[in-house]
Amino acid sequence: CTTRKDSGQNKYRSESSRPKLSKKSEQANYPLDTLREDISIILNDISGIGRSLIVNALEPTNNMEGGDLILPLPKIKVANPVAVAKRWATELSAYDSLGKVCAKGPFLQFFFDQKYLLQSAVPSILLQKERYGQEKSCLQKKVVVEFSSPNIAKPFHAGHLRSTIIGGFLSNLYEAMGWSVVRMNYLGDWGRQFGLLAVGFEKYGNKKALEKQPIQHLFEVYVQINKDLAEEEKENDTSQCGISSRARTFFKKLENGDQNATKIWNRFRSLSIHHYIQTYSRLNINFDIFSGESQVSKESMDEALNIFYQNHLVEEKDGALVIDLTQWSKNLGKAVVQKSDGTTLYLTRDVGAAMERKIDLKFDKMVYVISSQQDLYMSQLFMILQKMNFDWAKDLNHVNFGMVQGMSTRKGNVVFLDTILDEARDKAFQIMKNNKIKIAQVEDPHQVADLIGISAIIIQDMKARRINNYEFNWNRMLSFEGDTGPYLQYTHSRLRSLERSSSNITADMLVQADFSNLDEPQLIKLVRLLAQYPDVLKRAFKTQEPATIITYLFKVCHQVSSCYKNVWVAGKSDDVAIPRLAIYSASRQVLHNAMSLLGLVPVDRM
Ligand code: ARG
Repeated sequence: CTTRKDSGQNKYRSESSRPKLSKKSEQANYPLDTLREDISIILNDISGIGRSLIVNALEPTNNMEGGDLILPLPKIKVANPVAVAKRWATELSAYDSLGKVCAKGPFLQFFFDQKYLLQSAVPSILLQKERYGQEKSCLQKKVVVEFSSPNIAKPFHAGHLRSTIIGGFLSNLYEAMGWSVVRMNYLGDWGRQFGLLAVGFEKYGNKKALEKQPIQHLFEVYVQINKDLAEEEKENDTSQCGISSRARTFFKKLENGDQNATKIWNRFRSLSIHHYIQTYSRLNINFDIFSGESQVSKESMDEALNIFYQNHLVEEKDGALVIDLTQWSKNLGKAVVQKSDGTTLYLTRDVGAAMERKIDLKFDKMVYVISSQQDLYMSQLFMILQKMNFDWAKDLNHVNFGMVQGMSTRKGNVVFLDTILDEARDKAFQIMKNNKIKIAQVEDPHQVADLIGISAIIIQDMKARRINNYEFNWNRMLSFEGDTGPYLQYTHSRLRSLERSSSNITADMLVQADFSNLDEPQLIKLVRLLAQYPDVLKRAFKTQEPATIITYLFKVCHQVSSCYKNVWVAGKSDDVAIPRLAIYSASRQVLHNAMSLLGLVPVDRM
C-alpha cells in the first residue's frame, strides 16, 4: 500500500489546483463525486483509458476498511490486472487529491485524503442542510406516483399500508433526485358495492356516525348488509324489493348520473376522503390528487375499446370482449375487457385512467405502487397499453411488495389504519412516561409519541427488501429494541440535545471549523460514512428499495453511538469542541435528511 509522502512534484496539490473538470462535472460537488472525477482524470492521463469507463467502473465499498471507492481492474479490461494494480497504486499515490491508494489483488482501493474529506464534507453538509444528498436537475422531469389507493367501505388492509409508506418514500426520493412529483391516490370508489352500500345505509346508517368515523361506519354498514344479502341468497329470494335487486337499481341510477343517487354516493366518498387526509397527514403524506375508479370517463374507456378494435386486439367470446395476451407472452393469459352486458371492467378502467393521466399530466414516468399479488394484472395492463401502440407504455413502472399475513386486531377483527397508528402511539407514550424528568421537557408528549410510534411502524416494514412477505405481529410492529424506528429517533434527539447544550457555539463557527488537529479515528470514520449519503440515495433510486437507506442509517447511528461514548464535546476548549460538534451536527443533518425521506418526522426530544 502506498501513501503519498513527498508532495513536491504533485500535479494537483490543493483544493484550488484540483484537476480541471468538464462542464457537466462542475455539478459534482459531493466528495465522492469529486474523488471519482479526480481518479478518472488522473488515471486517464496515465493509462489513456476513457474517463467515463473509469467512473462507471468505480464501486462504493461495503466495508470502509477496503477504501472509500474501489476499482476492479477487470471491469476496465486491463490485461495483467494484479501487476497493473500494483504499478498504478504507486503512480497514483503521487497525487495529493487521491489520498491513499492501495493495490489489493486486481483491485485498486482509494481512501479519501483525511484533511480534504473533513474540510470539504462537513461544512458542505452544514451549509446545504436539507439539500445535502439531493440532485439538482435543470430539465425537471415529471413522475406520477400512484399509491395507497384504498377501497371505500372496505378495510384499509396491510397491502394499503405498505403501498402508502413505500409510495410516500418513493415520491420523496424522486423529488430528491430532482423530479417533479404528482402524488396520486386511485380510490376504489366505484362498482356494484356502492349500490349495496346505499341500500345498507338506508337500513343501518347513522348520519352522526358517518360524519364522525366515515371509514369505520361505512365498513360496518357494508358488513351488515352483506350478511343480509347472504341470507337472502340462501333463501333464494329474487323479489323486486330484495337487497340484491335494490342494490342493482341504485348502481344503475348512479351510472346514469341520477342526481339523488350521485348525491348519496358523493357524500360517502367525500367524507371518506376527508378522513383519509387526516390519517395520511399523520404519516406526513399529502396527495396532490384523489382520483379513483369513478373518475375515469366513459369517453376514455370508449376510446380504449375503439383502439382495441382498430389494432385487432380483441375477440368476442360468448358476447364478452377478450384480449388474448398469450400471443405475446405465454403466461399473461386472456383478459376480459368488456362483459357480455356491455359493462366495462376494472382493467378497462385502468387503461382509460392511464390514457387520461398521460394527456392531463404529461408525465415522463408513472409508477404504480401495488402489492405483488397483482403482478400478473399489472403485466397485462402494461402489455395492453403497449399493444395499443402508446409509446409512453415503456414509461410505466410497477413497484411491487410482498404480503403481510394475518393483520388483525388483538380481538381478531379487521384493523383500521388509525387503530394501528393509535396503538403504536400509546405504546410509545407508555415508554416515555417511564422517564419522568425527560417527558416533563417534551412540549407535546402525545404528538411526539405519535411520531415515534409511526417511526416504529415504518421502519419495521421497510427494513427488509420490499418483495419479502412478513407475518403481522404487534410485537414486531411496536418493538422499540434494537435497530428500530425509535432507535433512529433516539439517536437524532440525542444529537439535538448535544447541539442544545453547546449553544455558545454558533452555526458560523461550525461551518468554519478547523479540523487540522482532529484525529479521532471514530469521528473520521463517521465523516466517511456521511460522505456516502449522496451515493446511497442514488443507489436507492436505482433499486427503489427503502431498505438501502435504512441499512445505511443504522450504520450511521451505530457509528454515532460509538463516538458519543468516547469523543466528548462537553468540557473541551473551543479548538477541540468546535470541530467535534461540527461533525455531530453534520451527522444529525444526514440522519434528519434520510429519516424525512423515509417519511419519519425526526424529533428533537423524547
Ligand atoms: N384499490 C385497489 C386495491 O385495493 C388498488 C388500486 C391499484 N391501482 C390501480 N391502478 N389498479 O386492490
